[in-house]
Amino acid sequence: TGLVTLDPGFVNTASCSSEITYIDGDAGILRYRGYPIEQLAEKSNFIEVSYLLIYGELPTRQQLEEFSSKISRHTLLHEDLKRFFDGFPRDAHPMPVLSSAVSALSTFYQDSLNPFDEPNVDLSTIRLMAKLPTIAAYAYKKSVGQPFLYPDNSLGLVENYLRMTFGFPAEPYDVDPVLARALDLLFILHADHEQNCSTSTVRLVGSSEANLFASISAGINALFGPLHGGANAAVLDMLEDIRSNGSDVAEFVRKVKNKEAGVRLMGFGHRVYKNYDPRAKIIKKTADEILAKLGVHDELLDIAKQLEETALADDYFVERKLYPNVDFYTGLIYRAMGFPTKMFTVLFALGRLPGWIAHWREMINDPATKIGRPRQLYIGRTARDYVDMAGR
Ligand code: CMC
Repeated sequence: TGLVTLDPGFVNTASCSSEITYIDGDAGILRYRGYPIEQLAEKSNFIEVSYLLIYGELPTRQQLEEFSSKISRHTLLHEDLKRFFDGFPRDAHPMPVLSSAVSALSTFYQDSLNPFDEPNVDLSTIRLMAKLPTIAAYAYKKSVGQPFLYPDNSLGLVENYLRMTFGFPAEPYDVDPVLARALDLLFILHADHEQNCSTSTVRLVGSSEANLFASISAGINALFGPLHGGANAAVLDMLEDIRSNGSDVAEFVRKVKNKEAGVRLMGFGHRVYKNYDPRAKIIKKTADEILAKLGVHDELLDIAKQLEETALADDYFVERKLYPNVDFYTGLIYRAMGFPTKMFTVLFALGRLPGWIAHWREMINDPATKIGRPRQLYIGRTARDYVDMAGR
């Protein structure tokens, strides 16, 4: 077995077979369990899409009611877990707070430790779907020094999350249906994307038979990086930089092309899509609609559109088939909704959760699964004799 193939970044290596999500990167096609993303975006909702991803079929009315009422009943965090947030600095980034709290769920629910105990995997699935929005809202509340709100289980998942984020304990909070629908749509569009960096991480960690919470916590950390989920925040920083440098889009694109100081056009390019990302198409349209409905005029949206236009007319981007990806326009919507930039990648995590769960479950139930253990090409020194301190 001396023959090992080197494939940095797994550009051409499949690590599993999967029935969950289909992507045709050249044609710009994305389907969950066979259903085109455009139809799900228009007709479905996040809870239904989560069920579809995790269980493989669209739920019947009764299955959907059961699934969502179970989720509603598990939204509370253990009071001791609430105190956990006090241990972080107030200006902590919410992503490591999120991953730490998810990791800590293993300590509160020790019944989750056996990955082959199906009823408990189902329970962990519900607990994660229910509690991640609460954890995310508390990470935010902690960062702004505001009191935590208990979940209101008469509300849907997205409405509840918005209320826990932007509401106050003593005041009624009217969830804006336009915001709720837009966030639900963004969650649908983020819900799965086959073997991306964070999903592969969830599978790799899970392949050691680590439980669902531990595996998803690792996935959240993988998502944090700016080349993956962190790109949505990096796009906003980039747009703000361009604005403060006089909104000279052409000059910025020149820098990217000359690869000056590692400047990349964030929110552009994708390992699999060599065409317009079908999610970005929907999101771009949504950004226009939401900003208009909220009566927000954001100069940064104008800069983003100019950037896209300039890049798509430029040989550098055309030759490399670089198009806007899911992260290019999302930040502008989140910002119009009132989320600070730091929260953007947390919102990505909330959307991606059902995909991670679906992949972990598929992995654990697949008889072909083996512990993930890539090989390497050793290029270090050959054997040599130890040198005493005096001789170095
Ligand atoms: N700006 C400028 N040049 C780029 C970009 C970009 N955003 N993306 C790729 N390139 C160039 C790259 O320099 C290379 O050119 P050359 O052959 O001259 O060296 C060529 O295009 C191929 O790039 P690559 O780095 O080999 O592609 P990859 O598949 O390894 O990387 C990527 C994919 C998404 C990491 C990359 O396109 C990137 O860094 N984009 C910016 C960050 C970003 O938006 N990430 C979000 C990805 S989508 C959702 C998600 O996963 O969160």
